[in-house]
Amino acid sequence: MTDQPAITVDGHAIPLLGFGTWQLEPADARRMVAEALRIGYRHIDTAWIYHNEAAVGDGIRDAIDAGVVAREDVWLTTKIWVAHFERDALLKQAEESAASLGFTPDLLLLHWPKKEPSFKETLDALNDAKDRGLTHGIGLSNFPSAEFREAQGLSKARLLTNQVEYHPYLKLTKLRETAKELGSSITAWSPLAQGKIADDATLNEIGRAHGKTPGQVTLRWLIQQNVIAIPRTAKESRAAENFDIFDFELTAEQMDRIHALARPDGRLGDWIDPAFKWDEEWA
Ligand SMILES: NC(=O)c1ccc[n+]([C@@H]2O[C@H](COP(=O)([O-])OP(=O)(O)OC[C@H]3O[C@@H](n4cnc5c(N)ncnc54)[C@H](OP(=O)(O)O)[C@@H]3O)[C@@H](O)[C@H]2O)c1
Repeated sequence: MTDQPAITVDGHAIPLLGFGTWQLEPADARRMVAEALRIGYRHIDTAWIYHNEAAVGDGIRDAIDAGVVAREDVWLTTKIWVAHFERDALLKQAEESAASLGFTPDLLLLHWPKKEPSFKETLDALNDAKDRGLTHGIGLSNFPSAEFREAQGLSKARLLTNQVEYHPYLKLTKLRETAKELGSSITAWSPLAQGKIADDATLNEIGRAHGKTPGQVTLRWLIQQNVIAIPRTAKESRAAENFDIFDFELTAEQMDRIHALARPDGRLGDWIDPAFKWDEEWA
């Protein structure tokens, strides 16, 4: 891995800044992944359901062929879609994802929690995928604290991260504490609130004090919490902007001002199965 900030979980060093690829069409995904690696990103996030795993793999191969990176320098995450949580289907998708990427992923996540099949069946299958060499590590996405604990209790291997929505308009106090207690980590999806941070007066003001943009301030706020952030853009210039966050530091007061932007209606992507409830951050 490179010398950029990373969080070490169960012996795995995961770069705190990654590059997201949701909604990137294959041609854009390939171009932007190769460009992100050229800029310096060493962590790429995709998922089976994004329908771009093959293009993401091509982008990484383009960067390898250009001499920009070696495979072992890149942290690569993908996800098991909820339709594939039965044992056989999970193992089949794990094989398919590795084949599409052309690489064994570093991390394979369960995309959203689901009541059926049981957590035990799905966690056992996910551990089996790891034991069979279909992924180097396993983890979760969109699991509230109670289900995060339950899943770790059922998993032989450490769950390396729980990838959830997190940005200045959400509180995540309880889930961050849970991740810490479990020896895991949090990865923030939609870290830029899908671009909404650009017009925020507080983030703009703090940015001006550092000569930085609201996006850079937001990503810095996340990594200063030791939270992994995976911003997405289809534009080369923004990919470079979002990577340029390692030469300044937010003060404790600025961190607190950004935390204070959280609001009850801040969630952008509430696609959780109604059988589960997000942590009650506003109670
Ligand atoms: N696990 C899950 O369930 C889940 C759910 C959602 C997302 N994710 C992952 O998280 C990644 C990031 O989340 P996201 O794609 O929802 O949203 P995001 O990264 O918060 O925001 C992306 C949007 O912000 C714009 N943008 C990028 N950089 C900017 C900047 N510096 N200033 C202003 N606007 C900027 C982009 O537009 P341009 O393209 O025009 O630059 C794009 O429209 C995804 O790509 C995916 O990998 C995971």
